[in-house]
Amino acid sequence: MSFVLHPADIRRGEVAALVADLRAGRDVADFRFDLLVPPGLRRLSVTHWTPVQVALRAAELLAPCAKTKVLDIGSGCGKFCLIAALSSGGRFTGVEQRPHLAATAKRVAGELGAARASFVSGDMADLDWTLFDAFYLFNPFYENLMRSIRIDETVPSTGENFARCVSTVQAKLGGARVGTRVAMYHGFGGDMPPGYEQVTREALGTAFLELWVKTQDHQG
Ligand SMILES: C[S@@+](CC[C@H](N)C(=O)[O-])C[C@H]1O[C@@H](n2cnc3c(N)ncnc32)[C@H](O)[C@@H]1O
Repeated sequence: MSFVLHPADIRRGEVAALVADLRAGRDVADFRFDLLVPPGLRRLSVTHWTPVQVALRAAELLAPCAKTKVLDIGSGCGKFCLIAALSSGGRFTGVEQRPHLAATAKRVAGELGAARASFVSGDMADLDWTLFDAFYLFNPFYENLMRSIRIDETVPSTGENFARCVSTVQAKLGGARVGTRVAMYHGFGGDMPPGYEQVTREALGTAFLELWVKTQDHQG
C-alpha cells in the first residue's frame, strides 16, 4: 500500500499549523500567510500588507479585552484583521474600497476559521466609526501620491483623493469618544487630531508602530 498526499491535504495541514501558531501568539514568517492569497496579491505583500510581527503587536495594543471592536481602515486582503482576530480576543472589521480584496479577505477568513474577523466592501468615509472602540491604519492612502506603488487601476488615485481621505480620518477620529485607541504603522498621511496622546512608539519591521489614545474631548 502506498500513500499519496493530495495538494489539498498539504494545504489543510499548513493552514492548521499556521492557525495554531497564530493562536499561540507565535510570530510566523510572512510567506506562510501570503501563500493563502492569489499570487497577484502575494507580490504586493512586502509593500501593502502588514507584516505578521506588526499585526501581532498592534492587536495586543488595540484589543486589551474581548469586547473591543477594532476597525482596520483600508483592510486590503485582510492580513491585519485575520492575524489579529486569531491571536487576540477582540473583534476586527476591515473596510476596503476594492471589492476583489474584500472578497479575498472573506474567503481566507473562512479557510482560517477566523470567526472574529469580518470585512465590508466600500469607502471608509461611508462607515459609521462610532460603532468601534479602536482603529488601525497602515498608511492606507499613500498610493494616491505614488503611482509606482499603486495596487491596481480599479479605483481612482489622485492627490485630491489623498487629501479627502486624510481629512476624513482626522474628522472621524476627532469625533470619537474618550478612550478610543488608534494604532498606526507608517502613519496615515496626516497629524492626529487634538485630544489624542501618543502612548507608545516602537521600532518594528521597516517603521514605527504607534499607539495613540484619546484622553480628552477637544472643543474646536
Ligand atoms: C497599505 S494597504 C493596508 C492593508 C491592510 N490594512 C493590512 O495592513 O494588511 C491599504 C489599503 O487601503 C485601501 N484603501 C485606500 N483608501 C481607501 C478608502 N478610502 N476606503 C477604503 N479602503 C481604502 C486600499 O485599497 C488598500 O487595500
